[in-house]
Amino acid sequence: MLYIGVDLGTSAVKLLLMDGEGKILNIVSKEYPLYFPHPGWSEQSPEDWFTQVMAGIGELLADADKSQVAGISFGGQMHGLVILDEEDQVIRPAILWNDGRTTKETDYLNNVIGKEKLSEYTANIAFTGFTAPKLLWVKENEPENFARIKKIMLPKDYIAYKLSGVHCTDVSDASGMLLFDVKNRCWSKEMCEICGVKEEQLAKVYESYEAVGTVLPDIAKELGIPTTCKVVAGAGDNAAAAVGTGTVGDGNCNISLGTSGTIFISSEKFGVDKFNALHSFAHADGHFHLMGCMLSAASCNKWWMDEIIGTKDYADEQKAITKLGENHVYFLPYLMGERSPINDPLARGTFIGLTMDSTRADMTQAVLEGVAFALRDSFEVAKALGIQIERTKICGGGAKSPLWKKMIANILNVKVDVIESEEGPALGGAMLAAVACGEFASVTDAADKIVKIVDTVEPDPELVAKYEARYQQFKEIYPACKELFRKIQ
Ligand code: XUL
Repeated sequence: MLYIGVDLGTSAVKLLLMDGEGKILNIVSKEYPLYFPHPGWSEQSPEDWFTQVMAGIGELLADADKSQVAGISFGGQMHGLVILDEEDQVIRPAILWNDGRTTKETDYLNNVIGKEKLSEYTANIAFTGFTAPKLLWVKENEPENFARIKKIMLPKDYIAYKLSGVHCTDVSDASGMLLFDVKNRCWSKEMCEICGVKEEQLAKVYESYEAVGTVLPDIAKELGIPTTCKVVAGAGDNAAAAVGTGTVGDGNCNISLGTSGTIFISSEKFGVDKFNALHSFAHADGHFHLMGCMLSAASCNKWWMDEIIGTKDYADEQKAITKLGENHVYFLPYLMGERSPINDPLARGTFIGLTMDSTRADMTQAVLEGVAFALRDSFEVAKALGIQIERTKICGGGAKSPLWKKMIANILNVKVDVIESEEGPALGGAMLAAVACGEFASVTDAADKIVKIVDTVEPDPELVAKYEARYQQFKEIYPACKELFRKIQ
């Protein structure tokens, strides 16, 4: 049997075809536009997503035996607000996870409703990118749109709906809405009330590995796949990536270096830290996880390479970087503001420490290091909670760079396990589809059988010490700039 994993990302959708043994047969990527209608805002068109998913599946299956496609599932960009009207038409463009427009609504939730209450109801506090503050923003700023809302969906759930006709979501993605009671894996009545929505406006919640239905007859016909093909709930991209890297069960870590950068720690038990510094979400394996999320990770390097330097050859550009741990240039990677752990939508990107002898390679190195230092900030929060992390998996576009992996191993002082495929969310999606179709007994079983570690990047004590000194300096830059960021808005 064949399984399709759909990774609905921010710059593109990646589609992966896997067989019943976990072998990857094909991968296709299709881009779509991202709109920034105001500084700090970020939107996409759900119709663009669907068009590209359908075109992508067509390409993915071009040489495959389509009659064997048994299941489709997803890893999707989290927190995005998709609103549908009475006729299931999209009311306005989706407001994405890295959109910072909801400062006022986030303050209201955290300070008027109160962080304690939010944490009691949902296990989390409000961040500008989360879904509930976006609903409050639409209610306040676009009341005519708010009044038309029949269904509130997350990005990948819109695709599942278009394929199956079922309004569904899964526990991991629902966790990032701030409308979900993570501990009890159900919608929070209190949060619905606070946001002025009714539970029937939300989708039915499934575990990530559960089928929500089968593909609609028209879709099956268009794609040439059987009408028995299951549509499986799937997961938020980070939980799906964790499945794809085998980060399941208790106390395992995965770093994702995609548009966002995340540190994901799987946990068999529900847990929340006192300050809600890390997100406490349901995992796609039936359990839970803690996560820190930075808003711009590999996207900082992409911006620096594509927009500023003007090159597509990232590997060649990194060849000029030879002096690890000795760069005197620093970069703050806050190009879209920042979430974990500083939670500051007004933070901005910054180069600091430039001198007349600074080179293009120093600046490229500063960008890569700045992302790794900022990841370490979240890593420190996890350590302060008493979580011991000695090794991590890694996935996402940035994981293709051996140099970046080396920086991460030494800046975080962890062993970085490199797995056969860094296609985290797309592979995780295909694995969830395979579990729902009975190919594997559980998500853990699928991870045990499919995910293979092919190399480990070990930290080097000398480099760890050099980077430790530099991290201590990096830590001082944001507090020194914080007030200035407010003045220069
Ligand atoms: C996680 C988050 C991002 C997006 C990226 O909380 O906001 O990782 O899921 O797609």
